[in-house]
Amino acid sequence: MSEPSPPSDLAQARRLDDFESLARARMGRPEHDYIAGGADDELTMADNRAALRRWRLRPRVLVDVKTVDASTSFLGQPVSLPAGIAPMAFQHFADADAELATARAAAAAGVLFCLSTMSSRALEEVAEAADEAGSAPRWFQLYVHRDRRRSEELVRRAAAAGYSAIVLTVDFPVAGNRERDLRNGLPYPQAFGNFEVSPAEVTDGVLAAVIGGFTDATLSWDDIDWLRGLSDLPIVIKGILSGEDAEQAVERGVAGIVVSNHGGRQLDRLPATIDVLPEVVQAVDGRAEVYLDSGISRGTDVLVALALGARGVFVGRPIFFALGAGGEQGVSRALDLLGAEVRRDMALLGVTDPAQLVREHLWRRQGPDGSGPG
Ligand code: GLV
Repeated sequence: MSEPSPPSDLAQARRLDDFESLARARMGRPEHDYIAGGADDELTMADNRAALRRWRLRPRVLVDVKTVDASTSFLGQPVSLPAGIAPMAFQHFADADAELATARAAAAAGVLFCLSTMSSRALEEVAEAADEAGSAPRWFQLYVHRDRRRSEELVRRAAAAGYSAIVLTVDFPVAGNRERDLRNGLPYPQAFGNFEVSPAEVTDGVLAAVIGGFTDATLSWDDIDWLRGLSDLPIVIKGILSGEDAEQAVERGVAGIVVSNHGGRQLDRLPATIDVLPEVVQAVDGRAEVYLDSGISRGTDVLVALALGARGVFVGRPIFFALGAGGEQGVSRALDLLGAEVRRDMALLGVTDPAQLVREHLWRRQGPDGSGPG
């Protein structure tokens, strides 16, 4: 990051998408582009948002909505919103306190926080900061290292530090082609929060390749049993995009699935996650909780995903930018804005509890040109 500048005026942010320009003014181009960018031509990244925005809502009126409560539970643990914070690597790119700040804001708001394996701060330090700020569940995202002993150690540490689920990311056998990072020569972090990385592991020119070099490309379905044997924590698989894989995951006893294309950062030309969600929900058929990420930035996005059967969603980039715009206060502001949107949109739609959202709350999907059903 370049020289720190004064905190941006967070009051200027009226919606999640406002944080990017506030953060941009305070961070270098390579760091900004690492967060904002996707793979190849960024088609999937754009599609995620466009497809969410093609859905229209179908309200019921004359419903008593004086009291609207957006709280729910994720894997049985109470959360104040059906939206959690997605795992995101290297949060020091946005703020010196990095994940400490994000986790504190999430805990204070009662929002689920998921920590990345590639966090800038150690998982124990983050847990302590979160516990001091409030109480909300936290999950640990796992990239499986080629040296399995490193991952075994991480899972045990996460369990000991009060993380309540392991989120296994399965869409990163190798790094996606992030051309913005190649162009910008994105600098390596000086330190990784959770482990030492040897110089040999960071000699490649692109940061995503560090993660790709670290992850075990041999990982396969049989390894879910290995992972289950490491702790008592429930397993959530992140990066499922087909009914067949959802079925496999359920057969292996996972507690949750995140329908995700990694925010369009891995394989380009994957479908938008909201378009895949119904297929996964159908395959899972209530045997596990289904979540969605990639492209969420509005309260109405959250409602559309829930009406299509998601238990909850995860928000990534807008939170990273909120961290860049104002550290912990920035993330708190983002969570306040999102929470207010979700509650207002629920009232306007005629629901008082996220559990009431059903397919009948969706009108129909507009065609890509906005003209008709798609
Ligand atoms: C890490 O998960 C990334 O997408 O850069």
